[in-house]
Amino acid sequence: MTYNTDFLLERRTIRKYTQEPVGDDLLNDLIKEGCRSSTTGNMQVYSIIVTRDEDRKRELSPLHFNQKMVTEAPVVLTFCADFNRFNKWCILNNASPGYDNFLSFMTAAIDALLVAQTVCIAAEARGLGICYLGTTTYMAHKIAVMLKLPMGVVPVTTITLGWPAEDPGQPDRLPPEAVIHREIYSDYSDSDIERFYSEKEGREDSCQFVRENNKSSLAQVFTDIRYKKEDNINFSKILLQVLKDQGFMNQ
Ligand SMILES: Cc1cc2nc3c(=O)[nH]c(=O)nc-3n(C[C@H](O)[C@H](O)[C@H](O)COP(=O)(O)O)c2cc1C
Repeated sequence: MTYNTDFLLERRTIRKYTQEPVGDDLLNDLIKEGCRSSTTGNMQVYSIIVTRDEDRKRELSPLHFNQKMVTEAPVVLTFCADFNRFNKWCILNNASPGYDNFLSFMTAAIDALLVAQTVCIAAEARGLGICYLGTTTYMAHKIAVMLKLPMGVVPVTTITLGWPAEDPGQPDRLPPEAVIHREIYSDYSDSDIERFYSEKEGREDSCQFVRENNKSSLAQVFTDIRYKKEDNINFSKILLQVLKDQGFMNQ
């Protein structure tokens, strides 16, 4: 038996797409394969909202901070943690659902992310390109309204999908030893950290980032510009409110 998993080592995020459509049959195949992902208790507590309509993509765009992939990609998929459908099935069958709590949100969010990633792998195996949009969790309150998500449903991630119109270089990754712990967690010494991050810090694109942002280290680009504490606190508050509004905080 031969395995061709080379594409996994060659993959990179694609943010520019050609005009070529992604047909319904192809999209259905990707989603069908995605739905074969492991799912908690085989409950499938997720939903996938397919956005193809140009007007709706334009409406979604500001909710993703106007990232151009949203309007340029032929398909936008919003993956939602979804206990709504399962709760309804329970109630119809004289069963009392106890899924209005944070654990159930985590369960459904994990399910949704597993499907999302399998859809991505299925797409990339066919030469399609994808880009995740982290803005989904920042703007979950507005996305929930726009997509008319009922109680029990929270958007957790979005991907844009299409045929690649760019061939970007691959970003770095930490060496595997940086993320592997054998049997028990072995905490990092300062010299481990320096060793594991040295390649990332030495890359020309990283140095350019540091220069352009007037910072003295790459880490500061993350803490002071890209993922700031004040933003994290603000978006955490918004997301916690969404979990409350969508019925996941009754514990
Ligand atoms: C949860 C998540 C959210 C992301 N959000 C964004 C995003 O909002 N915009 C974007 O351009 N890329 C986004 N990305 C893509 C990452 O920037 C990308 O995966 C990372 O830089 C590594 O690049 P690579 O996928 O090409 O290896 C996201 C990735 C993940 C997993």
